[in-house]
Amino acid sequence: MPARNDGAAADYAEKIPNNVSLHEDRRLQRALESWQPNFLNWWQTMGPTLPTQDVYLRTAINVGRDGWAQFGHVAMPEYRWGIFLAERDPGRKVGFGEHKGEPVWDKVPGEYRAELQRLIVIQGDTEPASVEQQRNLGATAPSLYDLRNLFQVNVEEGRHLWAMVYLLHAYFGREGREEAEELLHRNSGSLDSPRILGAFNEETPDWLSFFMFTYFTDRDGKYQLGTLKESAFDPLSRTCEFMLKEEAHHMMVGTTGVDRVVQRTVEVMREHDTDDVAGLGAMPLTTIQKYLNFHYSVSLDLFGGETSTNVANYYTAGLKGRWMEDRRKDDHKLTSDSIMVDALSEDARTGEQSIGQTEVSALVGLNTDLRREYISDCQGGVKRWNRILEEGGAKQRLKLPHIAFNRQVGAFAGIEATPDGETLSADEWQRRQGEWLPTDVDKTYVRSLMQPVHQRGKIAAWISPPRNGINGQPFDYDYVHLA
Ligand SMILES: [Fe+2]
Ligand SMILES: [Fe+2]
Repeated sequence: MPARNDGAAADYAEKIPNNVSLHEDRRLQRALESWQPNFLNWWQTMGPTLPTQDVYLRTAINVGRDGWAQFGHVAMPEYRWGIFLAERDPGRKVGFGEHKGEPVWDKVPGEYRAELQRLIVIQGDTEPASVEQQRNLGATAPSLYDLRNLFQVNVEEGRHLWAMVYLLHAYFGREGREEAEELLHRNSGSLDSPRILGAFNEETPDWLSFFMFTYFTDRDGKYQLGTLKESAFDPLSRTCEFMLKEEAHHMMVGTTGVDRVVQRTVEVMREHDTDDVAGLGAMPLTTIQKYLNFHYSVSLDLFGGETSTNVANYYTAGLKGRWMEDRRKDDHKLTSDSIMVDALSEDARTGEQSIGQTEVSALVGLNTDLRREYISDCQGGVKRWNRILEEGGAKQRLKLPHIAFNRQVGAFAGIEATPDGETLSADEWQRRQGEWLPTDVDKTYVRSLMQPVHQRGKIAAWISPPRNGINGQPFDYDYVHLA
């Protein structure tokens, strides 16, 4: 039985597949159908550059528990990007803030219109940005399995753009339609009109970066979506709930991607009885650590400053909640709670700055709360990679750098610190940052390994094959047919 949503089954025969009864609102349908060619034009000009005939992709066709994904070989420009909201819970109440306990909103309240639109635009901007960042990776894919996963992530980020554009068109009038256009005009790394957030203007030039990005930066997305899923604005909540299901695959790609790189490195270390695997066709652990340092620190910046009155206001208004709001054991209003946040403290006598903490109201410290949830999640990755090192007999370990390391946003933006959290002068940072962040030499070596392996069942020498294929298919399945 198809999952039901607002009384309407998913309409897959429409030009724009959807489960929001789009055909009942001709104006909205026409507006979205006129945005569609612009989206396809963007996909053709800014999306994946490697020519393909078709790719073994999953397509979202429903939101119910009994299967929402259909797998099959699809020509990518014909992918059925659609609009899918999780099922409506008719009794849903606002879970936090000053409206706690009131029924959730089916429309945008006038007093929160600007804030909600801004939140949706910022989320929406990240989705096409990552497709742009990853557009050239197909040319150097280590296997057809990996190539397929890259394209799966790409088409789903495209669908997430659709998800945000639907909200803008359906609920924010002319301004919303203009913002939807802008989402296609800004481009990652563009000098004139860059993407809104810093990490989404960085390059993803190689597959080690791609796996780190899908581990650390897509995971930021998971936490942002998790807060928006709590929103009192029900269509936003339902949209994000379904996006989170797709996001899980992106993080699997990152987690197991780094697993497989580390696995291969430790094998080559053992085979040659050396730690120095550069020149032996594998990724040195020191390079893996530097890439991890970079992607983790720029992803921490995505959570904003340690304190934010805007975010306090979003919470109080019910626009954006906490991660796992309903599992928190407090009053969900936080008006009289406090939280310790990371801060710089200055010695009154010497003027010397040091890394410490300070107490602020819990509402103002919500960014810190979310970032801490994210950090403890990231520890999980490091733990599993270290287990691979241990089982492979290597004595080295990977670790997350200190929260003050390489930060451009928040309390530590103005200082420099080592991955161990020791402060450094700007000069010393200039001199030593190459010990901790990828240097041109590291990047050149990584790029030298990026030779495409596009033959069925084959894989590049710097990465282990995956344990499992996709949707029960073997590793040597014909996941992609190149053009
Ligand atoms: Fe996404
Ligand atoms: Fe993603």
